[in-house]
Amino acid sequence: MKDRLIKNFISIFGEHKDIRCYFAPGRVNLIGEHTDYNGGHVFPCALTIGTYGAARLREDKKVRLYSENFSESGILESSLDDLIPGEKAGWTNYPKGVIWTFLKKGYEINRGMDILLSGNIPNASGLSSSASVEVLMGVILKDLFQIPVSAVAIALMCQYSENHYNGVNCGIMDQFAIAMGKKGHAIFLNTGDLSYQYAPIALADEKIVIANSNKVRGLGDSKYNERRSECEKALGQLREVIGIEALGDLTIEQFETYKIAITDEVCRKRAKHAVYENQRTKRAVEALKGKDLILFGKLMNESHISLRDDYEVTGTELDTLAEAAWKVDGVVGSRMTGAGFGGCTVSIVKNHMVNTFIEKVGKEYASKIGYTADFYIVEVGEGAGRLD
Ligand code: GLA
Repeated sequence: MKDRLIKNFISIFGEHKDIRCYFAPGRVNLIGEHTDYNGGHVFPCALTIGTYGAARLREDKKVRLYSENFSESGILESSLDDLIPGEKAGWTNYPKGVIWTFLKKGYEINRGMDILLSGNIPNASGLSSSASVEVLMGVILKDLFQIPVSAVAIALMCQYSENHYNGVNCGIMDQFAIAMGKKGHAIFLNTGDLSYQYAPIALADEKIVIANSNKVRGLGDSKYNERRSECEKALGQLREVIGIEALGDLTIEQFETYKIAITDEVCRKRAKHAVYENQRTKRAVEALKGKDLILFGKLMNESHISLRDDYEVTGTELDTLAEAAWKVDGVVGSRMTGAGFGGCTVSIVKNHMVNTFIEKVGKEYASKIGYTADFYIVEVGEGAGRLD
C-alpha cells in the first residue's frame, strides 16, 4: 500500500525525498447509539477499512490536497492563513478544519503541506469516513510537526473541528474509536469522563456484517443537531427536579420516576432512548464479557427498536434491513449503526449463514426499497497511525 501511495503522490505532486504515509480506520458502533453527547456509554470498534494518506511538508504556507476518491476535482489549494470555519469547501473542510483547530489551540503549524488521500470507506455510509479523514489529518500534523499530543487529545481536537469548523454538533465516539482503536477489540467508552476499557471481540463462529442502505444521509446533519437539542431540553427540565449533569447519569428507575418533569412528549421519548440505551450498552458489554452472545444480540435488536420508535432516526431503509435480518436464522443481532437517517446496519451473523443472510436481506431490501444494498464482512482493526 505504501509503495502505491508514494507512486501516486509523486505522479500528482512530483518527486520528493521525504514523503510519509499514514492510515486512519473507519469505525462501526456495536451498541450505544446517540448516547455520546448525553454523557453515556458507547461500544465502537475501528475497522480495517479506512483512509490512507501520503504527506510532505512544503517551504511555503500552501496546503494542497488531493483525494483519489474525488480525482475529478484535482488538486485543491488553500493556505494556512486562509482557513475559514463554515466555508462550503466539500471534503477538504475535514482536513482543513483540523489544521485550523491545531492552530487555534496554539500549536505551531508554520509550513504548508502536500497531501494525497485515498479511502476505501463508502462515503456517507455512517462508517465515519469524515472522522477518519479528520483523525488522519491529526496524526499527520502530530508527526510532521513533532507535536507532543496524545491520541485522545487528537480525537478531542478532531471533534472540536467537526463541531466548530463543520457545524455538526457530534459527540466524541467516532474520533475516539478511530484514534484509539485496537485490533480485535471494541472500546467500552464512558463519554462522561472519557474512561475506557478494551473488550475483546472474539468471534469464532460469527462475522460482523455491515449492510449499506445506500441511502445518502441528506438532511441528516440538521436532524442530528435537532435530536441533540431535544435531549438538552429534556435534561434542562430534569435538572429542575434531580441533580444530574447528563442524561447518562440516570438509572432507568430514576428516569421513570422523574420523566414527568419533561413536558414535551417528543423530548421525553428522546431522553428515554438516551437513558435506556446507555443502560443497555452497559448490559451488553457485561453479556459479552460473560460470553453470552445471545443476550448481546438481543440487546442490539432492542437498541434498533428504541432508535426506531423513541429516537426516530432509522427510516424505512434501515428498518427494512434490520427487520429482514431478524428473520434470518443464524443472525445473532442486527441494528442500525452511526447517526441513522440512512447509512448502515451492523449484524452479527453465524459464519455458515453469512451468504444466506446477504442473499435474503439483499432480496427483501431491493424488492421493498427499489434499489440494492451493499454488504461488507468487516474485521476489527487498529487505530490511526503512521505506516512504517
Ligand atoms: C454520529 C456522531 C457520533 C454519535 C453517533 C450516534 O456518528 O458523529 O458522535 O453521536 O452519530 O451514536
